[in-house]
Amino acid sequence: MTAGRRRRGRLAKLGRVPDLLIHNISEIASPTGTTARRGPEQGRVWRIADAEVLCRDGRIAFAGSGEERRSRLGDLEGVERLDAGGGTVIPGFVDPHTHLPWAGSREQEFAQRLAGKTYMEIAAAGGGILSTVNATRTASEKELAARVSERLDWMLGCGTTTAEAKSGYGLSTADELKQLRAIRAAAASHPVDLVPTLMAAHEVPPEHREQRERYLDLICEEIIPAVAEQGLAVFSDAFCEHGVFSVDESRRVLVAARAHGMLPRLHADEFVDSGGAELAAELGALSADHLIAISEAGIDAMAAAGIIATLLPGTSFFLMKHTYAPARRMIDAGVPIALATDCNPGSSFTESMPMVFVLAVFELGLSIEEALTGATLNAACSLGLGERIGSVESGKQADLVVLDAPNLLHLAYHYGVNLVTTVVKGGEVVHRAGRRERTA
Ligand code: NIG
Ligand code: FE
Repeated sequence: MTAGRRRRGRLAKLGRVPDLLIHNISEIASPTGTTARRGPEQGRVWRIADAEVLCRDGRIAFAGSGEERRSRLGDLEGVERLDAGGGTVIPGFVDPHTHLPWAGSREQEFAQRLAGKTYMEIAAAGGGILSTVNATRTASEKELAARVSERLDWMLGCGTTTAEAKSGYGLSTADELKQLRAIRAAAASHPVDLVPTLMAAHEVPPEHREQRERYLDLICEEIIPAVAEQGLAVFSDAFCEHGVFSVDESRRVLVAARAHGMLPRLHADEFVDSGGAELAAELGALSADHLIAISEAGIDAMAAAGIIATLLPGTSFFLMKHTYAPARRMIDAGVPIALATDCNPGSSFTESMPMVFVLAVFELGLSIEEALTGATLNAACSLGLGERIGSVESGKQADLVVLDAPNLLHLAYHYGVNLVTTVVKGGEVVHRAGRRERTA
């Protein structure tokens, strides 16, 4: 990422960008609306051929057929143009669950897993989350911000324009604050927008292992107030899982954070059903995430409360579990599905939403259209941003991705390659891949 490109990204954030007409689009494909799509609506996607998009003041001023644009808006002479090269335009991907600010690497643990050890066995032997905690505690805020920025570059190149980012590898007041400040610093100089989440309840740190209550007191009485005071997080999250934080402990943390203005979201029922989905419903969380082991009662509770299920098929894939969240059951029950990478060094090291898209289609059993809604509008809604981003519609922020593909189907059909040719953020081109000319 060049400094020049970063500067342009900042201008977009300020809304001082010239008009941009994206033309020669074979198809626009996008969900519509500002609220989470559920049930049959999750698969309803607006598609229009031979299309154009006009971006004005950082927002979408027009999206429709070229013919309609010419008759309604005329020639638009002098307006900057972006030739989509006969490709497809979709909304910028929104990645609503990542653990971006970490230091170190867990590649040796990965090698152990390839040799047959499980994630939980490695964690029990002192590896896992705690090994990243050690590395992250040692790193400076500046180093962490640099790591986040590198990961944002990967994200942008794969078409992500907004992401959530959690702390949770600090597990002390100073180190959680350091992670959240690193998120803020990285986002300030990068086109990708970040939504920060406090996740001090990711694991109990070694110094509190004998008296875990003390760590919960620290989270509720010190970490949460400090983060709130500095305005460093929009959400709070807890790892509600057998052997990590119980339902009661997670509730305590999320309620305390809510009292300080941070909205709840939750890692729930990842490995075993621990009642996390029900807790998310009880608290009115914006999202419950993972849910590989969710119960029928959990699905019903989420449907009744209108909670978004953020599914992370990359985690099942990377942990070689061969079991995925029951996405079809959830859609049938009326639970809106969002998709995310879970980008972290232990259980899912990818920044790629297109990879997640492919896994959602092949392993979760979503249709192409359902997966698109999950990776854009529903993901935006899970961050409370459905009014602003997540679809290609007049009035929304102009966060758009041009794909080297004649239609949306190719996002799963032509798998394993990066189809993203151009990314537009706030009406401004912020990423251009080396483009090949389309020949047919
Ligand atoms: O979402 N489940 C908890 N946390 C991460 C894993 C973090 C790690 O292994 O470092 C997750 O999968
Ligand atoms: Fe996670």
